[in-house]
Amino acid sequence: MASIRFQGVSKRFGDTLALDDVSFEVRDNAFFCLFGPPLSGKSTILKIILGLETPDSGAVYIDNRPVVGISPAKRNVAMVFQNLALFPHMTALQNVRFPPVERGIAEDIIRARVDAVTEKLHMTHILHKPPSQLSGGERQRVAIARALVRDPVAYLMDDPISALDARLREETRVELKRIQRELGHTLVYVTHDQEEAMSVSDQMAILDHGKIAQIGAPHDLYDHPASTYVAGMLGAPAINLLPAQGAVLHTGRDLPAATQTLGIRPEDLRVSRGGAAQVTAIEPMGATTILTVQAGGSALKSALRGQPDYTLGEQVGLSVDPARLHLFDRTGAAIAA
Ligand SMILES: Nc1ncnc2c1ncn2[C@@H]1O[C@H](COP(=O)(O)OP(=O)(O)O)[C@@H](O)[C@H]1O
Ligand SMILES: [Mg+2]
Repeated sequence: MASIRFQGVSKRFGDTLALDDVSFEVRDNAFFCLFGPPLSGKSTILKIILGLETPDSGAVYIDNRPVVGISPAKRNVAMVFQNLALFPHMTALQNVRFPPVERGIAEDIIRARVDAVTEKLHMTHILHKPPSQLSGGERQRVAIARALVRDPVAYLMDDPISALDARLREETRVELKRIQRELGHTLVYVTHDQEEAMSVSDQMAILDHGKIAQIGAPHDLYDHPASTYVAGMLGAPAINLLPAQGAVLHTGRDLPAATQTLGIRPEDLRVSRGGAAQVTAIEPMGATTILTVQAGGSALKSALRGQPDYTLGEQVGLSVDPARLHLFDRTGAAIAA
C-alpha cells in the first residue's frame, strides 16, 4: 500500500504538451479518480506512475521515494486491464494464476497468494468457471484478482468499464467501490464519465488539456467548482451558464463588479407559473422532469422533481436561491461569494 505524489510534472510528445506542470497527491488507500475528456492526459499520468513513460521535468514519488528512473518491475504498481482481456479458454482460477505462473514463481507461494486474494474478493465460488459464465461484475473481480496476486503497492485502471452497457456499468462501479474499500489498496482510476467519477472516488482530479483544473472530494467540486470548466464537467444536465449582465432572472442579491457569468445548477433553477420565460422542451425522466426554458437569449434547464404539469409554450417565471448561485469572472474563475 502506498501514497503517490506528482510534483510539477510535465511531459511533451513532439508538439503536444500532454502534461503541463501537474501536481497532486494520492493518499494511501484512497480511491483516486483522474477525470477529463479524451486527450486531456489521463493515460499519460498512469504510464508515468507505472514507469512506462518518463517525465520531461518534475518529480514522482511512491511512498515518498522518488521513482523517476526506476524500472516498472521495481515499482510494483499493477495495471488492471479491462475485464475483456481475460483469457476465454481458461477458468477464473487459471486467469488469476497466470501472471505468477508465467514468471516461474514457486507453486506454494502462488497458491498462498491466490488463496488470500480470492478470499478477500469473495470469489472462491466462481473460480472454476470460464469468463463466459461470469457476470460483468464477476469478470471485473477476476481481472482485479489477477493484478493483485502480485501484491502491488497500488493498482491502476484506465477506463475499465467504458465498454459495458449502462446497467452493467452501474452495477460494476458499485462493486469496484466495495472491493476497493475492503481491500484498502491505493487505486488510481481513469474515467471520462462524470457520473462514474462522482460515484466511486474519494478524491478526484479534473484534467483540462494536460493541466489539473481542480482536485477535491466529488461533492466539494460539485458544490464549489473553481471555474466554469469544472462546473461544466460535473452534473447532468449540465450547469446553466449565463451572462450576468442583463440577467434574465432575479437573483435577489448584489453581485460583485467582476461577475461576468452566473452558474445555476438545473436542480437549483426554480420555475413558477406566469412570467417572461417560455417552456420550449419537456423531458420526463421518471424521478425528475427536465424543462428547457427560453429566457432572453438563454436556453436554461430546470430539473424538477416528479412530473409537474407544465405545458409546451407556457409562460413561466424563473428564480434561484441566492445562496445556490455560482459566480465567475471574465476568465471563467470562480468568485468567492
Ligand atoms: N506516445 C505518444 N505519442 C504522441 N502523442 C501522445 C502519445 N501519448 C499521448 N499523446 C498525446 O498526449 C495527449 C494526452 O494523451 P492521453 O494521456 O492519452 O490522454 P487521455 O488518456 O486523457 O485520453 C494527447 O494529445 C495525445 O495525443
Ligand atoms: Mg486514455
